[in-house]
Order: sequence, then C-alpha cells, then structure tokens
Amino acid sequence: MALPSKVRIVEVGPRDGLQNEPTPVSTATKLELIRRLAGCGLSTIEATAFVSPKWVPQMADAAKVMAGLPTGDAAKAGVAFPVLVPNLKGLEAAMAAGAREIAIFGAASDAFSQKNINCSVAESLERFKPVVATAREAGLRVRGYVSCVLGCPYQGDVAPTAVAEVAHALFDMGCYEISLGDTIGAGTPGKTRVMVEAVVKRVPLKKVAGHFHDTYGMAIANIYAALQLGVTVFDSAVGGLGGCPYAAGASGNVATEDLVWLLKGLGIDSGVNLEELVTTADWITGVLGRQPASRVSVAVLAKRQANCA
Ligand code: HMG
Ligand code: MG
Repeated sequence: MALPSKVRIVEVGPRDGLQNEPTPVSTATKLELIRRLAGCGLSTIEATAFVSPKWVPQMADAAKVMAGLPTGDAAKAGVAFPVLVPNLKGLEAAMAAGAREIAIFGAASDAFSQKNINCSVAESLERFKPVVATAREAGLRVRGYVSCVLGCPYQGDVAPTAVAEVAHALFDMGCYEISLGDTIGAGTPGKTRVMVEAVVKRVPLKKVAGHFHDTYGMAIANIYAALQLGVTVFDSAVGGLGGCPYAAGASGNVATEDLVWLLKGLGIDSGVNLEELVTTADWITGVLGRQPASRVSVAVLAKRQANCA
C-alpha cells in the first residue's frame, strides 16, 4: 500500500510522558508544556488522567490542569485535549472539569489489566460500557486504548487475535478510534504487521492508531511497518518521555521529534514544526534534569550549538 500523505499525531507527553516521573511535576510546568506543544502545531494533546491519585500520584492535579488549559490561539485552532478515564468516577470528575474528549484504557492481557486497573479484561469491558454511554450522551468523544498489544510484562506473548478481540469490543462500544499500545516496547516490525493485520479484520483501518514505546529502540521501525499498512494516526511524547507505572521495565514513548523527522523524510505532512518541538523537548527534559531521549533532538541541538560557536 502507498504511504499516506498525512498523519495525525496524538501528543501524549503531558499524560503518558509525565505519569511515571518519580518526583512531582508542578501544575504550572505541565501547563507550560501543553502551551508549548500547542505552539508546535500539535492538534491533539492528551492533557492528564482522572485516575486514582493513590495509583498514579503524578496525575493528582488533573482538575487543576484542565482549569488552566490554553484558551487563546490553541482553542481557536481547535486543539483537542483528551484525558484518561478508567471508570465512572473518573468520567464525572473529567466532565466537571470541562473535558470534551476522554480515553478509556483496556488491555489484551488479563495479568496487566489486573495490575493496571485492578480487574480482568472482561470486567474492564463491563466497567467501560456505562462510561462510554454516559460520555457519548453528553456529547464527548471517546477514544479507546488496548495495552500490551505486542507483549505483556507479566504474561509474555499476547496473541494478535486477543488484541483484535478487545479492539473490536471497544470500537463496538462507541470508541471513535482504537490506539494499539506496545506498552513495554517489545515489538518488532514483523510482529507489528501481524498484529495490525489481525486488528484491521475487526476494526476499520482508518479507526486504528499506533502507540509505541521505545524500550528496545524499535518504535520508529514499528511505526514504519504500520504506515506501510495504511495506519495514519500515531501517539508519541515530546523528548521520548514516559512509561507506565504498572509495566515494570517499560521506558518512554517514541519521541515526537523522531516521529516528525521520519514523517518529514517520507514527505508526509504532520503539521508540526520540528524546530519548535526540539526546543520544547530541550526545555521539558531540562526541567526534569536530563537530556531528551530523542536522537533527533540531540542531533538538532548539537547542530544549533555548533552553529553558535
Ligand atoms: P481500585 O482500587 O480497584 O478502585 O482501583 P476502587 O473503585 O476500589 O476505589 C479505590 C479508591 O480510589 C477510592 O478512594 C476511590 O474513591 C478512588 P478511597 O475511598 O480509598 O479514598 N478512585 C478514584 N479516585 C480518583 N479518580 C478515579 C477513581 N476511581 C476510584 N477515577 C482504578 C481502580 C481504576 C481506580 C485504579 O486502578 C487506577 O486509577 N488505575 C489507573 C492506572 C493508570 O493510570 N495507569 C497508567 C495509564 S495506562 C497506560 O499508561 C497505558 C497507555 O499509555 C497505553 C499503552 O502504553 O499501552 C494508555
Ligand atoms: Mg503508553
């Protein structure tokens, strides 16, 4: 299949990127990050998560983040700020905070589901039904995640048919898009291809998104495999931030800079300004006390420094 001419990026840095940070990140820093990301041209920025603060302390300020979201240019440009919601309690809080889009998050592995949201996959699907119905009745858009699509930290291999089954259940429930999460970044392009092919037998291709973590350095290769199959939506986090607190050993998301560089090189439009993005990656990783995990950012920053010298 010919590569797509356009790709939509879902920036998950403020949520997936920060949820696992060991030291508290201030609400002001989160809001500055969101403001800068919108300024880079990102049209979907996952802002926060309405989950239990006992389970994920870093997201405890979800309502405060929502209250401070950009209202000026970003709002005019129609930037969407989805938030994670695991249950009705989370939905109520998200709606009270003004969320217009939520994401529910299931898994293709019972062991991971149990660790992450304290219930089996089947129980999670029952829990999600009233969440999706209530959200949609209120006019909210609902996205669905499936975690562990290319391996589970507790169970090991995950069958592509199990991924397809959960993806279909979430789509059938009313999710407008299903994001396929390689939570532990264990996937390789061949496995990605087999998994996506299984999913698109049950969910329309245009409703499928890829969410790759870069633990083994394979995220960009996996994205390329998914692009070749016609997937046109990818999640990523600025600076390669991130990881799931309930997936031992999992490291960051694919860096948005690496994704934009790949797309640029392929002549695919993402609407994102790479220079601004690198500046944002440099800023947020500096605040967190480290370098961007993105090779692209490191290279662009080194070039900038050399040009200044
Ligand atoms: P539970 O302990 O079974 O829940 O946790 P519960 O209903 O028994 O409630 C326990 C306590 O939590 C109660 O408080 C509730 O009020 C409170 P207490 O009476 O003890 O003071 N509570 C809540 N508080 C705030 N917001 C809520 C909420 N719900 C209950 N929504 C629960 C079940 C789902 C709540 C918990 O397991 C949880 O919050 N899990 C979230 C874990 C998480 O956020 N993981 C990271 C995101 S997933 C991810 O990163 C993967 C992804 O990126 C894709 C990929 O990479 O694969 C999306
Ligand atoms: Mg993730």
